[in-house]
Amino acid sequence: MQATSVERPVEHTSARLLDGRGLALQVRARVAAEVAEHIAHGGKVPGLAVVLVGADPASQVYVQHKITACEEAGIRSFSHRLCAQTSEAELLALLDRLNADPQVHGILVQLPLPAQINVQRVLARIQPGKDVDGFHPENLGRLAAGFPALRPCTPKGCMRLLGSAQIDCRGKLAVVIGASTIVGRPMALELLHAEATVVVAHKNTRDLPNLVRQADILVVATGVPGLVKGEWIKPGAVVLDVGINRLADGTLTGDVCFAEARTRASWITPVPGGVGPMTIACLLENTLEAAQNGCFAAV
Ligand code: GUN
Repeated sequence: MQATSVERPVEHTSARLLDGRGLALQVRARVAAEVAEHIAHGGKVPGLAVVLVGADPASQVYVQHKITACEEAGIRSFSHRLCAQTSEAELLALLDRLNADPQVHGILVQLPLPAQINVQRVLARIQPGKDVDGFHPENLGRLAAGFPALRPCTPKGCMRLLGSAQIDCRGKLAVVIGASTIVGRPMALELLHAEATVVVAHKNTRDLPNLVRQADILVVATGVPGLVKGEWIKPGAVVLDVGINRLADGTLTGDVCFAEARTRASWITPVPGGVGPMTIACLLENTLEAAQNGCFAAV
């Protein structure tokens, strides 16, 4: 008599963590080594200009992290802190100077900007070869067309995290919640490039819980703490939580109810220590890439 095997449903009692902190350290160490090599071969010290308009506390913290990370990787940083009343014309004039400065290989304007400044005009003014955030229409267009140059850092970091766990996106249903230029839209393009079937949900999406229940890969970037409940998660799904929200008691939390979601997912990013560190690591990588290319993006 032949033995029959009984197939038991896979149980996921606790998802494995996608360790962005650990992976970011590896990426940063590699970038530092490549920066040293670039300089040893006669290249200029890579330079990143970081522009902050106003005094938003969260933006100040992010900008400081970026500057510190540059220093540790051997990248020179040029910090430009402008007052909240800065006019659009003044900011555009600064960008023109940075575009023309041969010591500056990358330019980052921290978002959000004050209401008097048109963000699209600002992003479009940065020379595409120096646009290390990847938000210029040319860089976003190249990503959409499938021949990317400088890629937005957070989605790039998310793809690195998936790659580190050998998660194959091909044919999977990926749901991205949030349609921002910074994360949601370029994330959808990255996942499409990786051959996932991609759905982008936003504030007008109907029956979000039912959509999330079908997702094999879920990326959440809304800025709404605890928006996604654990019971919405498909058993075995991969969950990338891009949200970093500070609660009244000072603790940081994501857009996904982590403890509940962890009991159902196969892989999940913690907050903090998941996607956030990868954004900075990819910014350093992009700055090195911009310096290596000079001002000319590869076609
Ligand atoms: N604000 C929040 N995230 C980002 C980012 O990745 N780049 C910039 N420039 N601003 C941000």
